[in-house]
Amino acid sequence: MVIHRLLSEQYRTLPVLINESTSLGKTYIITGGNSGLGLETARHLVKASAATVILAVRNLTAGQKAKDEIEKLTGRTGVVQVRHLDMSSYASVQSFAQKISAEVDRIDGFVCNVGVMLDAWSTTEGFETSIFVNVISTVFLGVLMMPKLSACDRKFGSRPTIVFIVSILGYIAKGEMDKSRPGPVFELLNDEKLANMGQRYAMSKLIEEAAVRQLAALCPVERTGVVVAMVAPGLCATGLGHQGRTFTKIVQGTLKALMARTAEEGSRTYLHGLVVGAEGHGKLLSGCKIKENWVPDWLLNEEGLKLQKDIWKDLAAELERVQPGCISQLASLSILSSPAPVI
Ligand SMILES: NC(=O)c1ccc[n+]([C@@H]2O[C@H](COP(=O)([O-])OP(=O)(O)OC[C@H]3O[C@@H](n4cnc5c(N)ncnc54)[C@H](OP(=O)(O)O)[C@@H]3O)[C@@H](O)[C@H]2O)c1
Repeated sequence: MVIHRLLSEQYRTLPVLINESTSLGKTYIITGGNSGLGLETARHLVKASAATVILAVRNLTAGQKAKDEIEKLTGRTGVVQVRHLDMSSYASVQSFAQKISAEVDRIDGFVCNVGVMLDAWSTTEGFETSIFVNVISTVFLGVLMMPKLSACDRKFGSRPTIVFIVSILGYIAKGEMDKSRPGPVFELLNDEKLANMGQRYAMSKLIEEAAVRQLAALCPVERTGVVVAMVAPGLCATGLGHQGRTFTKIVQGTLKALMARTAEEGSRTYLHGLVVGAEGHGKLLSGCKIKENWVPDWLLNEEGLKLQKDIWKDLAAELERVQPGCISQLASLSILSSPAPVI
């Protein structure tokens, strides 16, 4: 079913929903904006006359190179900024969110794009790296940005959007997920001896989607003023998986050669995420459409909602441990109240 859906979608030409004739917001931030889908999204936004596009990158040299490329291609200077963000570090995520919230007046779109596909075991901040980067620090960053994004809606009435990047591939990890139920998911995923690294990327994307669904449910757009969107870009020819072992690289390379979109085509799905508005809040977006009908029943029914809540409970406990109050403050975000302090 998953493969069938991917195939049915892959070859369709996608619209460019943000272009020179779009009336754009002012400021957009893209994590991992130095390559792949993030870089192409930045190019589109600069071309479409965004006032500021911030590339949040771990390698400043690569970020500067991306900036130069975008300026050359679009002929627009003074728009792209490069800032440091390492999603493998709690401290870097905290410092980035704190500085951006304090220094940038208005944010219209925030794309949590960073992701890794790893098939060998390694750890970061005490967690397996892909679970840490694709799920824990990604949701942490989103949570830390929510007060600022909500404050932007209060101040400008701009309905900012935060976009998380998921994958249809996540749905193939149901069997793997079932093995870790009903136990504490993050604890079980942290056992190297039990780890199925061949499915780890898919598993991380499934957990990310479940967590983002719960974040969206806890932060209704009517109360917070922020649209929480989830984009599955489809299979795209990017550097994703380049750290993988030879076999993974061969499988990936063959699949990409046969059916991948270019990174530019894939980035059009991100643009849709940025303009979808409240209608897309907490829903799966793919191929520039709302594709909630693609989500398997087991993720949306009672069993799925329980999975979503269980994942959130463990994740929230970890994030509260790292930054007390970061989760509980979500309940008090309101477009009606005076600005919440940014913590
Ligand atoms: N390509 C696909 O087929 C596909 C399909 C579905 C979903 N996605 C998702 O799309 C998103 C973008 O991936 P992509 O395909 O564009 O891959 P990519 O070209 O490999 O881009 C990933 C970006 O993430 C950055 N990154 C990785 N780890 C980081 C860290 N610890 N801190 C900061 N930045 C880090 C990379 O920076 P460096 O350049 O420094 O490594 C790079 O800029 C990911 O979330 C991926 O899971 C991709």
